[in-house]
Amino acid sequence: MTRLLFAMPGQQALSQSLLLRTGWTAGNMILRQFPDGESYIRVLDDVRGRDVAILCQLHQPDSRVLPLLLLADTLRDLGAARVGLVAPYLAYMRQDKRFNEGEGISSHYFARLISQHLDWLLTVDPHLHRIHQLDEVYSIPALSLTAVQPIAEWIKQHINNPLVIGPDSESEQWAARVAEAAGCPWEVLEKQRFGDHDVQVSLPHVANYLDRTPVLVDDIISTGKTMIQAAQHLMNAGMANPVCIAVHGIFAQGALADMQGNGLRVVTSNSIADDSNQIDLAPLLADALVSFPG
Ligand code: R5P
Repeated sequence: MTRLLFAMPGQQALSQSLLLRTGWTAGNMILRQFPDGESYIRVLDDVRGRDVAILCQLHQPDSRVLPLLLLADTLRDLGAARVGLVAPYLAYMRQDKRFNEGEGISSHYFARLISQHLDWLLTVDPHLHRIHQLDEVYSIPALSLTAVQPIAEWIKQHINNPLVIGPDSESEQWAARVAEAAGCPWEVLEKQRFGDHDVQVSLPHVANYLDRTPVLVDDIISTGKTMIQAAQHLMNAGMANPVCIAVHGIFAQGALADMQGNGLRVVTSNSIADDSNQIDLAPLLADALVSFPG
C-alpha cells in the first residue's frame, strides 16, 4: 500500500513535488472552519493500517498547530499505522531557555506536544542553539535535514564572486558550511538584540572583500531586522547591496517589503511558501521520505 501525504493549507506546491519524487499518494481530506472558528476535518481515504504523513507549514504556528493535531488524532483514530509530520520549518525552537524569571521554555513544551500526537518528524534546519539535537526534546524519531547544499548551489549559479556572511554568531553554523560548499570565503558579524525589533550588529572586517558580492545567510528571517542591520553595516563599509538568503522566510509584519525597501534582494527556500522562494527543498525532503522513518 502506498503511503499517503496529507498537505495542510499552503503546502500544495511542495506536496505535488514530493508526490512526484517519492511515489507517495496524495491524501484527501476536507479541512474547513465552522462559523465559530473551530476546525472541521474529514478524511476521505481509508487509512487503516497505512503509513501516513502530514505536510505542514509551521510559521505563525498558533493557528496552524491545533488543526494539525486534530488531523493527526483523526488519522490515528481511523486506524493509520503511523502518522508522521513533515514540517520543513519547525516552530518554537528559539525560546529554548528561561531568559527571564517566570518565562516558559516553549521549545520543550512544543516538542512534548508534537511528540504526543505524532509518530515521527522530518524537518529542515531547525534553530538548534542551546538544544543541540532534536532528540534532546523530541521523544519521537526526528530527522533534521539541512539546506546547506541547495543554498550553496544557488549561490554558485547566481552570484559572481560571493562572500558569505553570517549576521550573528548563531548563523556561523550555516554560513561556514554554505561557504565551504560554495567554495568562497565567509565572515560572521556580532549581533546584540535589545528587543523584538531592536537589533544592532558590529562592523565587519571586510576591507579585503570589497570587490565581492556580500551574501548574508541565516536560518530564519522573522522581522528582518537582523538582515537589515547587517546589510546597512556592510553597505556603510563600502560593500555592494547584499543578497539575503534564509532557509525559512517567516516575514513577520511586512518584513519582506521592509527588506526590499532597503534595497535588499531576498531569497528563501520553499520551507514556507512565498514569492521569495528560489531554493527548492523537494529533492532533499523526497530523498529522506524514501527511507525515513524506516
Ligand atoms: C536568531 O537567532 C535567528 O538565527 C535569526 O537571526 C533571527 O531569528 C532573525 O530574526 P529577525 O528577522 O526578527 O531579526
